[in-house]
Amino acid sequence: MSTILQQLQETKTYIQSRVSGQAAIGIILGSGLGNLASEIVSEFEIPYEQIPHFPVSTVEGHKGRLIFGTLEGVKVWVMSGRFHFYEGYTPQQVSYPVRVMRALGVETLLLSNAAGGVNSNFKVGDLMIINDHISLFTINPLLGKNEEALGTRFPDMSEPYAKSLIAKVKNIAAANDIKVHEGVYLGVTGPTFETRAEYKLILAVGGDAVGMSTVQETIVAVHGGMKVFAISVITDLGIREEDNIITHQEVLEAATAAEPKLTLLFKELVKQL
Ligand code: HPA
Repeated sequence: MSTILQQLQETKTYIQSRVSGQAAIGIILGSGLGNLASEIVSEFEIPYEQIPHFPVSTVEGHKGRLIFGTLEGVKVWVMSGRFHFYEGYTPQQVSYPVRVMRALGVETLLLSNAAGGVNSNFKVGDLMIINDHISLFTINPLLGKNEEALGTRFPDMSEPYAKSLIAKVKNIAAANDIKVHEGVYLGVTGPTFETRAEYKLILAVGGDAVGMSTVQETIVAVHGGMKVFAISVITDLGIREEDNIITHQEVLEAATAAEPKLTLLFKELVKQL
């Protein structure tokens, strides 16, 4: 057995020795967006450091627990805290938990993140449903030998974010008076926020928002045959007239302030899956 298959087997065996139950939905929560976890009636929680082959999260605002429980009565796996390339993990490590969720039977993956807005219609605190991404500015997690048991060598990426899920969330948002944008998320490595010139470039190449996560997880999820829904909270504006200073604190605060809207969307969505 290849190393990755063996590792996945060990991780799965360990998790299943702690958690009995199945869930078809997986959720990964972004920076400052971990509060949804408190809405989950948790049955089991495993700190990442106890899970074989899991990297350990180091970023402020990330809790680092795998949760199994119910959200609105629906069984879910939730990763509270994710891994980022800028922390020094490889793209394969960043996306390993997605592989694990797949191995555990997850079919639909819901992702949230904090992102910088570059579309001039966006305001801090807005939500943007990701309808496509640009991953050319970060490293593809499928580089290297392909493991056919996990997915095909050349995965199609014409619809990384499932249109059916986008439609559902737009309906939910409309019914609850929540403003949502739709747009393209451009993935970068970070950890530096972008320069003024870089924000302009991102806008010029078709990005509406920019962030340091999500893209690698989505690629691996699509590779593994999962349906993905992802949404950004716009926590800062890359293109604006005044001072362009962005801090991680500001990002976390804006994410936390917008979180109730996001929680509502996720809760209603899981009920419809
Ligand atoms: N750029 C990149 N990543 C981010 C930003 C940003 O402006 N805001 C939150 N995550």
